[in-house]
Amino acid sequence: MDEKKDILSLDKFSVKEINDLLEKTDSFAEILKRDVKKVPALRGKTIINLFFEPSTRTKVSFEIAAKRLSADLINFSESSSSLKKGESEIDTLKTINAMKVDLIIIRHSDSGYINYFADALPVPVINAGDGKHEHPTQALLDLYTIYKSFPGLTGLKIGIVGDILNSRVARSDIKLFKKMGMDVTVIAPSMLIPENFSFFDVKIAAGIDEVISEVDVLYMLRMQFERQDKKYYPSISEYNKFLSLDLPRFNMMKTGSIIMHPGPVNTGLEISSEVMEMEESGKGKIKINTQVTNGVAVRMAVLYYALS
Ligand code: CP
Repeated sequence: MDEKKDILSLDKFSVKEINDLLEKTDSFAEILKRDVKKVPALRGKTIINLFFEPSTRTKVSFEIAAKRLSADLINFSESSSSLKKGESEIDTLKTINAMKVDLIIIRHSDSGYINYFADALPVPVINAGDGKHEHPTQALLDLYTIYKSFPGLTGLKIGIVGDILNSRVARSDIKLFKKMGMDVTVIAPSMLIPENFSFFDVKIAAGIDEVISEVDVLYMLRMQFERQDKKYYPSISEYNKFLSLDLPRFNMMKTGSIIMHPGPVNTGLEISSEVMEMEESGKGKIKINTQVTNGVAVRMAVLYYALS
């Protein structure tokens, strides 16, 4: 029997396999430009969206992606389920599997739990973000957005700014960007960097001004307040001084460079409201909505990979 195609991280994917996924995303992105944005590729397949943690972008874009591929997608609602009667999460997953579903998408607040669930299930599992651990489809849509913005990926300079400590996006992005030959610097003070961070083998800068005029991609992370067990930064004004993207810094960025953020943005903290208002007028420099748009085609490619 073929091994089931879980996507728990992108670590096992070769450069060629990542490039194949980018090309597949391109073909699905073309379909999404048509009047009728639907193909029968996954007709007859049943997919469960199981989010144990809040989400807008990931949850809705997986739902749209599945429907564009003609799969049946069911959104599992934790609040109205037997979890409220004390059924365990693993028993809930085994119950759903007993209904002969084809794929399960899971988000969870605890790092690594989804790997445990995937080991216990016979169907492919996609990690839609687990704790501080991994967010593989966010990393792929980020890579795709960069891939569509530059003629090549090798040697591109990317600065990832902010709460590295609590960010699954940072972990998945750093590993993927390095795999694709990009030059990664993280910009954060020591209290926002994990203790074992040397594992990632990237450059570290303490403030955004050290890199702002050099980077091709400025990737602003969200402050993950829901995962912070103490106050990691003294004040908003201190954060603004060293880590925020404001208008003077925006104007220092080089021609052709782009700004990204996984969302949701804490406007006024990671990015000033003046810069956020320039998404329409900023000549395509701010890619935050483009990332969301690309998320649908990327997730179509991922679902197609896992079920084909
Ligand atoms: N970027 C991201 O994962 O957003 P959501 O939490 O809204 O899915």
